[in-house]
Amino acid sequence: MRLRRALRSCHRSPVVRISFVIVSLVYIVHCFSFTTVVNMNDPPDPAVLEPHEKENLPQMPTNINESQISATGRVLDWREAEPGKNAIYLYSGYIDKRKAQPTIRLIAIIKRKTKAPECTYWSASNKREVKSGSIKLIKENWALPYSAGFILCPLPSFGPDDPVIRVGVTTQSAGPALLANSVPVENMESRKKIGEMSVCVKPFHYEFNRALWLVEFIEMYKLLGADHFIFYNHTVGPDVEAVLRYYMRQGSVEVLPWSLPVETKKDIRTEGIFASLNDCNLRSVGHFPLAAMVDIDEFLIPRKDENLLELVARLGTTYHGYVFKNVFFYLYWENDTALHDHLNTEENLQVNLFGADSHMPYLLTQTKTRRLDQPHKYGVRSKYLARPDKSVEVGNHVVWEYLQPGGRTSLNVPETDGLTHHYRICEFGGWDCLKLPSHIDQTAHRYLATLTQAIARECAGIFPGLPACPVAPPLGSPW
Ligand SMILES: *[C@@H]1O[C@H](CO)[C@@H](O)[C@H](O)[C@H]1NC(C)=O
Ligand SMILES: *[C@@H]1O[C@H](CO)[C@@H](O)[C@H](O)[C@H]1NC(C)=O
Ligand SMILES: *[C@@H]1O[C@H](CO)[C@@H](O)[C@H](O)[C@H]1NC(C)=O
Repeated sequence: MRLRRALRSCHRSPVVRISFVIVSLVYIVHCFSFTTVVNMNDPPDPAVLEPHEKENLPQMPTNINESQISATGRVLDWREAEPGKNAIYLYSGYIDKRKAQPTIRLIAIIKRKTKAPECTYWSASNKREVKSGSIKLIKENWALPYSAGFILCPLPSFGPDDPVIRVGVTTQSAGPALLANSVPVENMESRKKIGEMSVCVKPFHYEFNRALWLVEFIEMYKLLGADHFIFYNHTVGPDVEAVLRYYMRQGSVEVLPWSLPVETKKDIRTEGIFASLNDCNLRSVGHFPLAAMVDIDEFLIPRKDENLLELVARLGTTYHGYVFKNVFFYLYWENDTALHDHLNTEENLQVNLFGADSHMPYLLTQTKTRRLDQPHKYGVRSKYLARPDKSVEVGNHVVWEYLQPGGRTSLNVPETDGLTHHYRICEFGGWDCLKLPSHIDQTAHRYLATLTQAIARECAGIFPGLPACPVAPPLGSPW
């Protein structure tokens, strides 16, 4: 298992791939000596908190209802641009006039080496036009058969009173795309501000069902300054479904379908993560001045400020992004007792908040306080706040393309001002990670009382029949 993992990660290094061509014996040796280094750059994501299980490829949706509108735009899903060709899948489209050269950006999954497509446009008055487009793959595509990317289509020449409303693409068919395979496109110019910060999370998968941790994530980010959450639903379990429905009714969460058309990890990087992050970024343009690009087990925690908005105000609002170094808080390390002490007072706060039959709530940010001494470098597992209005292409760890290249870019947030707290099992499997130098860091306890209260309130609203949010399933094999 270890061997397979090492070889797999090795395959992904371009350096290693070149040496493979030269001589495969050298390759093996080379591979082992470089495994650690390669892994540190961007290790495979072993289904972060979930047991490793194989997932069936979901069916393509046949019933997208395009009249459904969420807070930030239309509710869409994946569709194939040219059915049966397995080359391009489309999710959404945005008219992007932020650059000198306006374009229509389609969020897509694209088979590598697909040639430049033709874009077919439909106007409001049903005029049609065809122009040549181009493909821009998103940088972090890991040499898998498919990559997330943008299809870039120049604006059509319809008049100002007859806006473009749909775009389709073809690479192999003779003639224009069919309307049925096109996506609606949205003009980002006419948007109104909704709030200060959205939170963008890669698609939920493996029947994700840790309700309490999802409530903790949402309530913690609210305390940190977020007011809106954009989630993508590949698969979720019943408890998480209940959490999402509850927050959707309240309006602070939107959940977008994500019927991934290719197989995750075999054909494309985890769940088409880059397509979702870039869709979320473009959905946030004009609606939110900041967007947190994080995973469900990652929290951007300020160390001096009350919340992220205050941190941004203090460090300077003109940056186009704020990058926080990653530091691991491994789940196998001991549990902090502060939450227990807080709840088990004479007033019996636990019963008052969570009910008589409740378990001690297992909160990541409050229970896990032992962390690695050494955070990773910027760009390695770091997470960030983006400025959607200024970001053209976003990645998992940094913004790849800003609106004004060469202008002011991201701020590397000093580690004394903030860190990405990342709660998980050992990233290479097993338990060896626990031996690395570590110390206790209780920065997140600043939120202990308010967070616990908020979680108790929301869990009672979501699961009225239960004493608290359901206890999550065990962590599963570390391998
Ligand atoms: C599509 O969604 C809209 C808005 O939510 C709704 O009014 C309409 O009934 C839905 N249509 C179908 C066919 O489900
Ligand atoms: C998530 O997707 C599944 C499968 O399509 C669906 O049954 C479920 O209702 C969705 N949940 C939410 C909250 O969107
Ligand atoms: C921490 O507490 C949780 C919930 O009670 C428990 O499942 C877990 O095993 C504990 N972890 C350790 C390292 O004791």
